[in-house]
Amino acid sequence: MSSVATFEVEGSIGIITVDSPPVNALGINVRRALDEGFKRFSSDAAVEAVVLVCDGRTFFAGADISEFDKPQEGPDLQAVFDLIEGGSKPVVAAIHGTALGGGYELALICHYRIAVPSAKVGLPEVNLGLLPGAGGTQRLPRIVGVPAALDIITGGKPIAANAALELGMIDALAAEGKLREDAIAFARQIVAENRPLLRVRDRNEKLEAAKGDPDLFDAYLAKNARAFKGFKAPGNIVRAVQAAVETAPDFDAGMARETELFIELRDSAESAAQRYYFFAERETAKIPGIAKDTPLLPVKSVGVVGAGTMGGGIAMNFLNIGVPVSLVEMSQEALDRGIGVIRKTYEAAAAKGRMSPDQVEKRLGLITPCIGLETLGEVDLIVEAVFEQMSVKQDIFAKLGAIARPGAILATNTSFLDVNKIAEASGRPEHVVGLHFFAPANVMRLLEVVRGTRTDLSVIATAMKLAKQIGKVPVLSGVCDGFIANRAMRARGDQADQLVLEGTPLEAVDQAACGYGFAMGPFQMMDLVGLDVIGRDSTEQTVMSELVARDRLGLKRNGGYYDYDDKRQGSPSPVAREVIAGLAEARGVPQIPTEGSEEILARLLYPVVNEGARILEEGIAVRASDIDVALITGYNWPVYTGGPMFWADTIGLPKIVAKLKEYEGRFGESFKPAALLEKLAAEGGSFTR
Ligand code: 3HC
Repeated sequence: MSSVATFEVEGSIGIITVDSPPVNALGINVRRALDEGFKRFSSDAAVEAVVLVCDGRTFFAGADISEFDKPQEGPDLQAVFDLIEGGSKPVVAAIHGTALGGGYELALICHYRIAVPSAKVGLPEVNLGLLPGAGGTQRLPRIVGVPAALDIITGGKPIAANAALELGMIDALAAEGKLREDAIAFARQIVAENRPLLRVRDRNEKLEAAKGDPDLFDAYLAKNARAFKGFKAPGNIVRAVQAAVETAPDFDAGMARETELFIELRDSAESAAQRYYFFAERETAKIPGIAKDTPLLPVKSVGVVGAGTMGGGIAMNFLNIGVPVSLVEMSQEALDRGIGVIRKTYEAAAAKGRMSPDQVEKRLGLITPCIGLETLGEVDLIVEAVFEQMSVKQDIFAKLGAIARPGAILATNTSFLDVNKIAEASGRPEHVVGLHFFAPANVMRLLEVVRGTRTDLSVIATAMKLAKQIGKVPVLSGVCDGFIANRAMRARGDQADQLVLEGTPLEAVDQAACGYGFAMGPFQMMDLVGLDVIGRDSTEQTVMSELVARDRLGLKRNGGYYDYDDKRQGSPSPVAREVIAGLAEARGVPQIPTEGSEEILARLLYPVVNEGARILEEGIAVRASDIDVALITGYNWPVYTGGPMFWADTIGLPKIVAKLKEYEGRFGESFKPAALLEKLAAEGGSFTR
């Protein structure tokens, strides 16, 4: 008898119920259980059909990702699938939660699929740098047609049951909460009606139809070239679906091609990085000292101080999950402006069909507009998002300390000020935490939870949980200038500036960064955000401050590092060149341009790794993978590199140390390798493995 499944018979229906927490991944124990269950029912004459259902929070969530790096123990997934598909009795997959990846591929092997309305199905392997390698690329197009299959598999997004029913991805809906009963009734009906064994592999009409358009696949890749750039999986997915069409009706030939393309991905550096990232993102919530029984504080209402761009974005996160927000400003005009921006954002989402007009009004109805802090006496959490100046923040926290109810969480959205000093001003530092949102705060996934030296564990635990509820990826940071993401990326910004002062063309710097996988280079990014915004707090004379002094604020006004035409297309700017040359001369920077992308990248990114090592040795980040998660979610660091720390491990730490030492000799001690980096390199250690 299996430890993760039960096998029962009700009348003529055999029921296999799998329960392998947390998500019924198709690991070795589950595969053994399925093997045992299906063999048992195939030889039981009393059983005429089989229902496959799961207990716990979900139907099978896919192959067990942690097994990819080890030799797989038998029976492998394919053997189990062959057993089910080749059987002589109809099998009904009964789906709740999410049937994902190998989990949905298993459902596709079954002869029929029934799901509750809250269920979702999908093939998200692309997010792991993989393709659905258990027949997904061969079976899905046979059901939904080639164009829809390409979108579903390269998009990797789960599809809600109703839409899945329309697409044919499931055959019927069960009543919510009555999946088992309805699936058994469905199976009985199939038996009573003597319905045939419907094998998806035998359905070839939709593939035959696609044979008339052989250019479809190249056209699809060309159309999506920008979105797919740097990723290996989408190309292989498209080729696997193409193979399904070209080999149909020979299913096994298509499968053989799918397997080749899957193995190529499984063994690729990109997929290794993306699988690492999958677990790293889930790891951030695990914090030493915080356990499942750490008490959480209630957060049923929120106050946001400041209705500017940041405050408005922060407020939307809570409105989106139905939490009422008291939005505070100093004047009615500022309040109206802030609420107006929120309305516009929601209306734009509604115009794109992402929410209904009703939902827009419902969310706006959760805002209580307030003038002054005094109205915040009853809320559970107050997030301050005002001007980035210590005295202003301390003043607000002193007032909040007097106004807020005992036990309320007081949070600051500061991006670089000392959270401890702000906390002390409140008179209740144990309830103060940093909640560092990234702009636009309603969109960016990263939320740095900044722990002051006196912040209570329950406050941190609550903040981490709340972050997940509002759809963020929380990363815990200690107090330091810039916290994790901005501090690490400042190292890249400093080098970009220095490189251009040494005579390296700024276009070459941006091109190198884009070649690595960033959506844009450091100078393109600064032009987009606005030089006045980025340089706001700097008192130094820099290329940026010189450009701002000439009213060159970036894309929005007069160009910045680049000149822009009417179509917002950038081109090298003679003015920027002159500013750079002038500053280089004034500072006496020797003109030695750095040549070649590889060298530019080492110069830009090895200092980020070095700063990451310092962040780690100072205990600012809990673990190296948290730094990777922060930069991937906060700065769109290309996920297929795994982030700077994982990437550094793949390059080899001794190589990075040697290069940093070379730079230290040439440019000074800011390049000195961090002690932790040197130690790991010397020991043959690594940050992430
Ligand atoms: N393999 C191994 N572990 C998995 C897993 C999987 N497929 N899916 C989830 N887990 C683990 C997580 O690491 C986490 O572990 P932890 O508690 O130790 O941190 C735990 O299960 C719970 O996961 P979540 O925190 O993500 O739980 P949620 O309830 O938020 O989400 C989920 C559930 C939607 C199922 C989500 O876990 C998910 O998206 N899982 C991955 C689905 C996926 O990508 N499947 C494809 C796998 S590859 C494949 O099938 C290849 C095949 O084509 C051959």
